[in-house]
Amino acid sequence: MPVQCLEVPTEQGEEVRLKLLELGALAPYRIESDRGLLFLPISDVEQVSELLDRYRTVPRDPDPLPVKERYDHISYDVIGEIAVVRPSEDLDAEEAASSILSRHGKVRTVALDHGVKGEHRIRDLEVIAGPDDLTTVHRENGLRLSIDLGRCFYSPRLATERERIAGLVQDEETVVDMFCGVGPFALLIARRPAVSVTAIDSNLSCIEHLQRNISLNKVENIDLAEGDARQIGEALAGNGVVADRILMNHPHHAHEFLDVAMRLAGDEAVIHLYSMVGPEDGPHIIDMIERTARDSSHKVSEIGEHVVRSYSPGIDNICFDVILKR
Ligand SMILES: C[S@@+](CC[C@H](N)C(=O)[O-])C[C@H]1O[C@@H](n2cnc3c(N)ncnc32)[C@H](O)[C@@H]1O
Repeated sequence: MPVQCLEVPTEQGEEVRLKLLELGALAPYRIESDRGLLFLPISDVEQVSELLDRYRTVPRDPDPLPVKERYDHISYDVIGEIAVVRPSEDLDAEEAASSILSRHGKVRTVALDHGVKGEHRIRDLEVIAGPDDLTTVHRENGLRLSIDLGRCFYSPRLATERERIAGLVQDEETVVDMFCGVGPFALLIARRPAVSVTAIDSNLSCIEHLQRNISLNKVENIDLAEGDARQIGEALAGNGVVADRILMNHPHHAHEFLDVAMRLAGDEAVIHLYSMVGPEDGPHIIDMIERTARDSSHKVSEIGEHVVRSYSPGIDNICFDVILKR
């Protein structure tokens, strides 16, 4: 049966190959070349819709990759001793697991990722090889993070973004992390000793793991609060807490808490608001930020937009870096 391939000029081939890997859409067939063009096999045309205005698809008949190379092409993350594999139509779970186990000496458990679900954004994981234990310690940005992937949200794909944010923080800042998870932002920021951080999460497991991670990383300047970011944020503001920087890393819902973040924000403050943004959404989000700032008598002096990563075709996870003044 013919395989749909993306026809790409050779010099753009590597860039597009990496994009297909990120989308989990590179099919396990040989990449063919002909007269300055590469033909990248794709598993699902819909998944690559964002590339279709630049490249056309053509049916071809490439050879399937040998088994030992097939699983170079699947999309998976290694988190501590656990490999988390994104399912795709042509994935043979058993072959994928044994290929990953043979390639990563430290991986002991392989799990299929059926997506993040619910208020706590917990991954629905199905263990397909190794012990049925989703607790591990992962290294990120020089931190050791104890995580139970069955009970806490964590994604290694945000490591560079966490580094970017930590790099913006100055001494003496008061930082509130409204959706801290197991603490990858909060811990990295709190490694700077002259900063104080309050970390909030409504998932008790995250707070328990962050408590452990504070000890593991010998960090002292983090206060923990378990509960709803609205209630805790309002209580902090009521108790006179004034934040210089507020992290809102809950991309599907953070905007609902923007008014609370603005109540916490001092006369000069920065809010990092994460959001999933489709082609039409940007102006609405900026409008909402400006409206909420006016209601809390702040002025927005600048809004930076930083693309964190592509979330799905046409939708990016964007961090709005909002600089406020009063
Ligand atoms: C996308 S995760 C981000 C976690 C963390 N910032 C990270 O980078 O790993 C969002 C987090 O918000 C938490 N959460 C969801 N609703 C909440 C609420 N109303 N109040 C506080 N935390 C909440 C979830 O439990 C989850 O840990």
